[in-house]
Amino acid sequence: MKLTIAVIPGDGIGPEVTAQAKKALNAVAEVYDHIFLYKEAQMGACAIEATGNPLPDATIKICKKADAILFGAIGELKYDNDPSAKVRPEQGLFRLRRELGLFCNIRPVKSYDKLIKNSPLKKEVISGTDIVIFRELTGGIYFGNKEISEDGKTASDVCSYTYEEISRVTHLAFKAAQDRRKKVTLIDKANVLETSRLWRKTVTEIAKEYSNVELNFMFVDNAAMQLVLNPTQFDVILTENLFGDIISAEASVFAGSIGLLASSSIGDKCALFEPIHGSYTQAKGKDIANPLGSILSAAMLLEHLGLREEADAIVRAVEKSLALGITTQDIKGKNQYAASTAKVGDFIADYIANQEDSNM
Ligand code: IPM
Repeated sequence: MKLTIAVIPGDGIGPEVTAQAKKALNAVAEVYDHIFLYKEAQMGACAIEATGNPLPDATIKICKKADAILFGAIGELKYDNDPSAKVRPEQGLFRLRRELGLFCNIRPVKSYDKLIKNSPLKKEVISGTDIVIFRELTGGIYFGNKEISEDGKTASDVCSYTYEEISRVTHLAFKAAQDRRKKVTLIDKANVLETSRLWRKTVTEIAKEYSNVELNFMFVDNAAMQLVLNPTQFDVILTENLFGDIISAEASVFAGSIGLLASSSIGDKCALFEPIHGSYTQAKGKDIANPLGSILSAAMLLEHLGLREEADAIVRAVEKSLALGITTQDIKGKNQYAASTAKVGDFIADYIANQEDSNM
């Protein structure tokens, strides 16, 4: 199969980890006889530096033409520490999500037995955790009208949702639940927010089409607590944009390192794949960042395009690297010998290239 993959390395550790994901993809292309063509594009702080625009038109064009998009990370300390900056790296990502209609963000989180000791949570609490978070990605407070008064002392961000915005992500979440443990938990704040009440009404109605899936509701404050008290009660979590951002960051502790987590952002025509760890600028250029989140994002990309066996080959290689302890500092701990970003990438690529024929 010949595929064009738009690659947006982005900021901070984005370029380093994306380079390892490309190594894994190249190994897959070699073993399974595919052709992957990469079209590199800019977004974020690096794009602001180069063009003054966090999302140049050329990037949108490349992404629209590609079969899928592999993205690294966005953000730069300089902007994080300057709330008055009018042009910000993240605006690039928001615009890309909107322009490409990437309305559904999917974040799988599970606890790996081998890494349970890395989590600050107790083994007996997190063992067996296996959750997928469906976060609505192009609506809500992120995209509502934003205002600041002339004297700079009052600000507002509007949160609004439509039936259509809620319904399309809800269908995807229920479909996923049908192939899993058949339980959807809607996380909202329906005791306070009108938008949450619309979510409950819409999701309840749609749930009737999926009679084999159990639906339950949880207020976001309780969910934040339940996630760390009893995470195995969750299967598919469905939620709006801001709650999804927060809940998925909280859930990342189950995996033992946020560096392991991958995500996809799906629309009707395009799909983007990225690790959830962000730009981690402090580690930029040090060859210490964990590339597994990006590598697993590449696996999600292949699976999305129907290349399941190829995706499995990447996942097996990642599991092997964890089992053998060929991992970066965030997993190994500072006092143990840790592999560099590039070494982990090399191991994964070699393992894919040398997997037994019987696995294929
Ligand atoms: C994420 C990130 C982004 C978000 C940031 C980088 C703007 O936290 O993808 O979860 O808030 O959506």
